[in-house]
Amino acid sequence: MERSQWGTRAGFIMAAVGSAVGLGNIWRFPYVAYENGGGAFFIPYLFALLTAGIPILIMEFTIGHKYRGSAPLSFFRMSGKKLEWMGWWAIFVSFVISTYYAVIIAWAMRYTIFSVNQAWGSDTEAFLFNDFLQLTVTPGQTGGVVWGVLIPLILVWAIALGILLGGVKKGIEMANRIFIPTLVVIFLIVVIRAVTLDGAALGLEAFFKPNFDAIMDPQVWVAAYGHIFFSLSIAFAIMITYASYLPKKSDITNNAFITGFANSAFELLAGIGVFAALGFMANQQGLAVADVAAAGVGLAFVVFPQIINEFPGFNGLFGVLFFLSLTLAGLTSLISITETYVAGFSEKFGISRNKAIIFGGGLAAVISILFATQGGLFFLDVADYFINQFGVAAIGLVEVILIVWVFRKADMLRDHANAISDIRLGGWWKICLGIVTPIVLGYMMFGLLKTNLL
Ligand code: PHE
Repeated sequence: MERSQWGTRAGFIMAAVGSAVGLGNIWRFPYVAYENGGGAFFIPYLFALLTAGIPILIMEFTIGHKYRGSAPLSFFRMSGKKLEWMGWWAIFVSFVISTYYAVIIAWAMRYTIFSVNQAWGSDTEAFLFNDFLQLTVTPGQTGGVVWGVLIPLILVWAIALGILLGGVKKGIEMANRIFIPTLVVIFLIVVIRAVTLDGAALGLEAFFKPNFDAIMDPQVWVAAYGHIFFSLSIAFAIMITYASYLPKKSDITNNAFITGFANSAFELLAGIGVFAALGFMANQQGLAVADVAAAGVGLAFVVFPQIINEFPGFNGLFGVLFFLSLTLAGLTSLISITETYVAGFSEKFGISRNKAIIFGGGLAAVISILFATQGGLFFLDVADYFINQFGVAAIGLVEVILIVWVFRKADMLRDHANAISDIRLGGWWKICLGIVTPIVLGYMMFGLLKTNLL
């Protein structure tokens, strides 16, 4: 059977950007940057983007384009069974992430509706944990199913799997061509409105004020690398899969730079919007920005509802636009992450794409119900912690070491990319992949193992 292909270059770029821009950009980046040196964080961040993020993205695009298969098949074609397992490892991590990522999108979808009349009331924290998530059991117990989460969750899976069933061009590409421009417009409105609020400057000052001591702190570098991997969706088998649908004549390197910079531009914008809004709230309540900022789930689902409560005029609309952005950004990432195992299963077991979507995606959807129970948030925290600590950077590290040093494929991949790309990869590319990235990631993994095992 003829392999599916993207219809246009723009379609591929939209899909790759759609995968990269996700929940990570809107609620993760702002607090990670803020907690890790504010303005000074941009130094390790840019370093990680240029020495690891974009070089690995180029490598994954090249692998997918050259071997025209999902991650396991591409690795198999490159170096046989000795490398295939790495694709499965990445697919396993992607599968697990998709089960809880879908749940957070379901919350965002539900909160889009709550925004209309601020159904969360004045105590937004109690509302999230008690009323919405019904987190009334002790950790480790599931309790009953929470219908308020389960119903939007079913909808999220129905949309994602429905789009995948449409195929690469008519499903994934078409959806991204609609969702991504819509997301950009909606999000720009949110950001512009946020920076024109009273007190916005306070928030921006807190966000951008550099704490240069932070640059000397290894933890900050670890945070920057970890974030870049998550945010660019690299080392998850995704970008290999998406690039495997590129036509023969495609500019790989240029596409990777465009995807990388578009993703960073989006998260910078998100940081500005989120902190401007936090500055507004701090100003309203006579508090410091540090006292109102929160990490993780709390930022989008506790603090933002408070901001919306105090918003001057049209607050329902502002809320709807904010949560709709989260929903759209999340959906396009969920589609990409599900496509990786759909493609992997269908090639490995010789079943049709649609069967792989129904069984693979269906299985992930069923497992995700675990996170829509009364104890769901506890399980979600455990899964997320486990994946982020041991999944992402570890795969990245093993991937570059095996490809550059053990199987020595870097030169061959570089020639492949150079033959079809405008920007030529020089020696810097191999140095970044083979030396800089393994040193930093190796140091990171060593530190993680030490803190987790000792
Ligand atoms: N890159 C996406 C984000 O920033 C997250 C993601 C991770 C998507 C892994 C797919 C796979 O949210």
